[in-house]
Amino acid sequence: MNRTDQTLYEIILKNFKEAVVFADAQGRVQIFNPVAERYFEISGKEVLGKKLERVIPHPNIQRHFDFVYDKKEGNYDVDLAIPVPAASSERETRLLHCNFYPIFDRGVKFLGCLATFSDVTEKGLLLREISKSRDLSTIGVLARWMAHEIRNPLSSLNINIELLREELREEAHLAQKEEIHSLLNFISYETLRLENNLKDFLDFNRLPPPTFEWVQLNEVLDSVVRLLRPDAQMKNARIDTHFQKNLPMMKIDVSQFNLAISNLLVNSIQAVSGKGEIHLHTRGSKKNVFIIIKDNGVGISKEHLPKIFDFMFSTKPTGSGLGLSIAKKIISDHHGEITVRSELNKGAEFRIRLPVGQKGS
Ligand SMILES: Nc1ncnc2c1ncn2[C@@H]1O[C@H](COP(=O)(O)OP(=O)(O)O)[C@@H](O)[C@H]1O
Ligand SMILES: [Mg+2]
Repeated sequence: MNRTDQTLYEIILKNFKEAVVFADAQGRVQIFNPVAERYFEISGKEVLGKKLERVIPHPNIQRHFDFVYDKKEGNYDVDLAIPVPAASSERETRLLHCNFYPIFDRGVKFLGCLATFSDVTEKGLLLREISKSRDLSTIGVLARWMAHEIRNPLSSLNINIELLREELREEAHLAQKEEIHSLLNFISYETLRLENNLKDFLDFNRLPPPTFEWVQLNEVLDSVVRLLRPDAQMKNARIDTHFQKNLPMMKIDVSQFNLAISNLLVNSIQAVSGKGEIHLHTRGSKKNVFIIIKDNGVGISKEHLPKIFDFMFSTKPTGSGLGLSIAKKIISDHHGEITVRSELNKGAEFRIRLPVGQKGS
C-alpha cells in the first residue's frame, strides 16, 4: 500500500458512520475509527497495538470477538446493549448492531477480526413498540377465546330452556304454571341478549381467522428470538438457540404461534437476573417436534406450579396472568401440549410438543 492509498483509507474510515475496529491475529487493535472512539470512549492513538479486551471492556462484545478468533468464522447482525455516554454526560444503555468478520489473506492466512458497530437504539425502541402492540393482539386472541367459551354453554342453555318449556306444556295441572312460564321467558330473553352481544362483539373484534401455513419452525422461532433479544440484552441476559437441523415442515398459524412463544420468552426474561441465560432448543422425533425453553431464573414454587396456566394467575405485581393461558390455548389449537418443570430458585423449563404432519384446524 502506498502513501496515497493510506490517506484514502484513513479518509474513508473517518467518514464511516459506523464504528470500525480491526484487531490483528494476536488480538491487538490496528484500526480504530473516530466513531469507535466515541462509542468506546477512548482515543484511537491510545489504543493502537493494545489488546482488544482492554480497549473494549464489554464482556458481551468480547464474547463475539472470541468466537471469531476461536472458530475463524463470522458473527453477523448481532444486537448488543452497552452503556455509552449520552449527550447530557450521563450514561445510558445503547443498542449496537454489530458485525464481526474474520479477515483472511488470499483466503488462507488468518489476519485478524474486523468489527463494525452501529447505534440502533431508536430501532430497538421501535421493535419494543411493536412488541407492545403485540399485547393488543393478546387481548384480541383472549377476547375471541372468551367469546367462544361463553357462546358454547349458551347454546346448550337455550336448548335446555326449550326442553323445559315443552315439559311444562304437558304438565296441565301445575299450580304455578304461569309464573314458571314467565321465568323461563325471562331466562331465554337474557340468554338471547347475551348471545347477540357476543355476536356483535365478535363481529366488531374479529381477528383474521387462523391461517395455517407450512413453515420451517426454526426460522419462525429465530425471528421471535431476534425480536426479543434487545429486551433480554437490557437485562444483561442472553437467549441462545440450539436448533436441530432438518426438522420436518410444520403447519402452523405463524402469528398466533409467535404470540405463544414470545409469551414464554418474555416470562423467562422477566424471571432471570444477574447472569441470565435462556436456551431455546428444538428437537424432532418421527411423530413430534419439541420446543424447549429453559431459563436460570427465579423458578416456580411447588405451591404455584399447578396454577401457572390458570386464567389470570400471576405472582407479579403488574402481571396480567394471561401469558401462559393464551400460550396453552394456542398450542392446544395446534393439537400440541405444553408442560413445565421447575423448582424455586432453580430456573424453569417449558416444553412444547407438536405432532408432526398435523393439518391444522
Ligand atoms: N420462566 C418462568 N420462571 C418463573 N416463573 C414463571 C415463568 N413463567 C411463568 N412463571 C410464573 O407463572 C405465572 C403466570 O405467568 P403468565 O401467565 O405469563 O402471567 P404473568 O407473566 O402476567 O404473571 C407468573 O406470574 C410466574 O409466577
Ligand atoms: Mg407473562
